[in-house]
Amino acid sequence: MSKAHFGLIGLGVMGENLVLNAERNGFSSVVYNRTYSKTEEFLDGRGAGRRIQGAKDLQDFVEKLERPRRILMMIKAGSAIDAVIEKISPYLEDGDLLIDGGNSEFRDTERRVEQLEQKSFGFLGMGISGGSKGALEGPSMMPGGTKSSYDAIEELVSKMSAQVEDGPCVTYIGPGGSGHFVKTVHNGIEYGIEQILAEAYDLMRRVGGLNGSEMADVMARWNNSEELCSYLVEITEGCLRYKDPKDGSDLVERIMDKAGQKGTGLWTVVSALELGAPVPTIYAALNARVMSSIKRQRVEAESILGKTVVRPFHMGSVEDGMAPLMDAVTLACIASYAQGIELLKIGSDQYKYNLQMPSIAQIWKGGCIIRSRLLSRIQSAYRDCPDLPNLFIDPWFSEQLTRRLPGLTAVVAGGVKSGIPLPCLSSTLDYINSYRTGRLPQNLVQAMRDCFGSHTYERVDIDGTFHTDWLD
Ligand code: 6PG
Repeated sequence: MSKAHFGLIGLGVMGENLVLNAERNGFSSVVYNRTYSKTEEFLDGRGAGRRIQGAKDLQDFVEKLERPRRILMMIKAGSAIDAVIEKISPYLEDGDLLIDGGNSEFRDTERRVEQLEQKSFGFLGMGISGGSKGALEGPSMMPGGTKSSYDAIEELVSKMSAQVEDGPCVTYIGPGGSGHFVKTVHNGIEYGIEQILAEAYDLMRRVGGLNGSEMADVMARWNNSEELCSYLVEITEGCLRYKDPKDGSDLVERIMDKAGQKGTGLWTVVSALELGAPVPTIYAALNARVMSSIKRQRVEAESILGKTVVRPFHMGSVEDGMAPLMDAVTLACIASYAQGIELLKIGSDQYKYNLQMPSIAQIWKGGCIIRSRLLSRIQSAYRDCPDLPNLFIDPWFSEQLTRRLPGLTAVVAGGVKSGIPLPCLSSTLDYINSYRTGRLPQNLVQAMRDCFGSHTYERVDIDGTFHTDWLD
């Protein structure tokens, strides 16, 4: 049998779908899985009748690949990646290329790129977004590492990825761990939008008294608008409309209210804190998941501290798409993108990744979980002004802010009066209000720091650094 173009390690659902995608696009493949029975099962099932061969061990796997070898690892992030690298390295030759397609921590990727290049192998850390369906039909791909490594897979990934009007949803992101850094921030934005939609659901259900189908109708309206048309709004409509086959009630109401996480949201926030990038909406989404996980304490506290009393307020109607709520959701979604992009820009400067915002917006326009029509506007905003300090400064986005701020303010105020937690919506309001306030009260913080710790301060009226004995 002739040598295969492409090798895949790890036949989980993402791995299976990616290899089927590669084969469909003309790349004969070889697959390896730690347990060979899984490989056999795949080759007899979904892989049957395709140009996909199996390998029993890593040496056999490597020998079945044409050179330079292109090997995608779809295995659990962390030590498993290092273990496979160690096991496969003895069989690799100069110029062969390993690609980590999982959600790895970008600093691990940075280290692996360096380590493997010392051995004359290529290593790419490639964020892949789109879930299992995207993996099969065309995901968004975010590869980072050396440019020559990317060149070796450009044809493969350009064909495998989702396609939008201006090209494939893949591009060379930059050196080192940049691909995984961009994927991590993508996931931070994903956390933000998911939580924003969960807060909208909570308000519609508890304040508006809407049932699942009515809320789904609101989502359908939102998904018809330029501002909110997106994959996450589309699937939220589907989730809210779904009925429990057991009794025809809304299935979403039967789900335990505890959200887990696999780490990327946390890494986004940790990176932001380290880099000094403000990401309050994304942080609020992460913290909301943490709060949700302490279910037992929350239930106990409800009986001790008293349940919140919902006071109805104007959120619009299903027919008008709950206009003020739509304002709030729109601004919070824009804030999630704005904060994520600001983090990318600060990270790009710090780590010398040379990230190109219009290209990143383009490859997020299709295939990935945060794909949305807003991304075309984001792409234009950074094309028109590469040094844009914040998305809300762009004329189209600033008009959105001006028009929709009263709605966001009213919704947050109403939620506060009703005791409904709105972490992302209220953080967004604070973010916007802080950002548009020329003088914040941190002058007093500086005074206190100087008072107890002689940390000094600057003045607005005289140049220099000052210290005062405040209590003398
Ligand atoms: C994607 C997703 C995916 C992620 C899941 C789960 O872009 O396809 O981001 O990579 O693993 O969404 O993430 P959490 O478990 O952390 O929510």
